Amino acid sequence: MTADLSLIRSSFAAVQPHGSQVTAYFYDHLFEHHPGVRPLFAPHLDEQRDRLWAALGALVSNLENTEALTGMLQNLGRRHAGYGALAEHYPAVGTSLIATLRHYAGDAWTPAVEESWTAVYGVISDTMVAAGQASSN
Ligand code: HEM
Repeated sequence: MTADLSLIRSSFAAVQPHGSQVTAYFYDHLFEHHPGVRPLFAPHLDEQRDRLWAALGALVSNLENTEALTGMLQNLGRRHAGYGALAEHYPAVGTSLIATLRHYAGDAWTPAVEESWTAVYGVISDTMVAAGQASSN
């Protein structure tokens, strides 16, 4: 991937101190721009809201550990097929994720950071979608 992993880590670290505001912003952005995905989620997101961010943290910590990363993404992708997540939803989530990171990263956000996140999200979503599709065959 054409991603600078140190930029992924430093920008993610810059966003972390903003806490649960970050996930709130992410879901508001996603549901505003893609209201069609709202029904896939539980009516009250409180409990699972921060799980996506925790999972991202775990993925970011394992970016160099390809085997562990792939296994985590395949499991996540299989569970997401069960939630009704389709391949076409992944770019929507990626756009909201990157908009959220950009919003909170402040000066840590640069074109190179955005390029790195786009590449990493591409790998994440390709792996999740492939595992999800394989599990629903
Ligand atoms: C970077 C990509 C993503 C990550 C890291 C991620 C992470 C998570 C995590 C950790 C959970 C908690 C349950 C579990 O661990 O299985 C979850 C639940 C869920 N995710 Fe994702 N997700 C991603 C992409 C997506 C996409 C593209 C969709 C499609 C709209 C989606 C829809 C859902 C839904 C519907 C739930 C269950 C929510 C509920 O029960 O209300 N996710 N996600």
